[in-house]
Amino acid sequence: MTTSFSNVTLVDHPVVARDLTILRNKNTPPPIFRSALGRIAIILAYHSLKGLPLKKVKVDTPIEVTDGFELDTEIAVVSILRAGLGLVDAVMQFIPEARVGHLGMYRDEVTHQPIDYYSKIPRNIDRHHVLLVDPMLATGGSATDSITFLKSKGAKNIRFMCLISAPEGIHRIQETHPDVSIITAAIDERLNDDAFIVPGLGDAGDRIFGTI
Ligand code: PRP
Repeated sequence: MTTSFSNVTLVDHPVVARDLTILRNKNTPPPIFRSALGRIAIILAYHSLKGLPLKKVKVDTPIEVTDGFELDTEIAVVSILRAGLGLVDAVMQFIPEARVGHLGMYRDEVTHQPIDYYSKIPRNIDRHHVLLVDPMLATGGSATDSITFLKSKGAKNIRFMCLISAPEGIHRIQETHPDVSIITAAIDERLNDDAFIVPGLGDAGDRIFGTI
């Protein structure tokens, strides 16, 4: 399902709605949080991988040779640490051969600006379709800086997969990187004074890893 935002896919599915409620609940403990996130991530990944280029190949079935397909691109999944780690496995279930990159970034609690502390991305990133993943799109600072970094390394085909987004973050990506499509399970109301998504689910990294 698309939204009033251009280039944004809002994934609408009963399992997503049910699991999002589990994730939003402040009493959900980390093991249950991780399993609900994993289920949603599979549905998000399915939508995020739509439209990838294919090439025709011949396949020899036990009966006869017929037409088949292979992906006609390399795929990289790039996780914005820490919380993006919670989405990587789902993508790997569809694309086991995907290369995995990591961008270490945390948001300064006072300025809300992203601070980068680590990066390791696959070689020849220009040859890959890149799926950048992070559960939360708040101000959009982390995502836009990550996309800028990936482009500086040559990435051209980038999609951003997230769980919950704020309108502010969507606008920021669209202004800075209009070529990047966004796949999300929810578009929430707004940001509060601490730049947390309202209603959101709190700090996804802390809730995944039990560091609250
Ligand atoms: C959170 C979240 C995003 C970022 C979103 O990470 O996982 O990476 O903030 O905010 P933004 O859109 O305003 O940049 P956080 O800084 O809490 O780091 P963590 O994943 O290590 O907990």
